[in-house]
Amino acid sequence: TVKAVIFDLDGVLVDTAIYHFQAWHRLAEGLGYSFSIVDNEQLKGVSRIESLELILKWAGLEKSKTEKEELLRQKNLWYLELIEQLSPAHLLSGSLDLLEKLREKGIKIALGSASKNALGILEKTGIVGYFDALIDGNAVQLSKPNPEVFLKGAEALGTAAAYCLVLEDAQAGIDAARAAGMQVIGVGQAENLKGADLVVADLGTLVDKF
Ligand code: BG6
Ligand code: MG
Repeated sequence: TVKAVIFDLDGVLVDTAIYHFQAWHRLAEGLGYSFSIVDNEQLKGVSRIESLELILKWAGLEKSKTEKEELLRQKNLWYLELIEQLSPAHLLSGSLDLLEKLREKGIKIALGSASKNALGILEKTGIVGYFDALIDGNAVQLSKPNPEVFLKGAEALGTAAAYCLVLEDAQAGIDAARAAGMQVIGVGQAENLKGADLVVADLGTLVDKF
């Protein structure tokens, strides 16, 4: 049984994962380092600071606290530039139909995202009104794969973890959902989403399951 669905944002509801990649890639190139879209899978779902730490580790670079703050600021500026024109057209296939269906069935809806930009993205894409609870990067201390973001979502909805279903496009998010004791469906390609109960290519596939 599913009484609540907790959605990841970037790469599940909205097509923003590519913009995170572009901004990180640009930042890394500025540091004389390049990484591929395959390596990028490891950055998905991970907080801004932990993403930077990973890139610096891959590049074999050490930076001071002040330098890191400046890099984080720069990355976010580039990311915000890239998503400035974000609109409902950037909703991923099936997102709206699934949100509508869940609302119609009385299933609660929460956001469980690592992003500190989540609210602005929900507003620009016109879906903020669907959510009964919003847990984003400003509300959590620990990055996925820690389950904090999803446990806070369940708590805000008043639903026990076992009745929550998480929808995720990142391996870190699948691991976080499992650590929270929740059901989890991966959105994307199975090889990047190990341990999911099911993997679908897009959310539209799920509309008839509720
Ligand atoms: C996650 C993305 O949703 O949010 C990551 O998958 C991103 O790529 C993280 O780094 C933090 O986002 P933001 O918007 O706070 O930099
Ligand atoms: Mg994601």
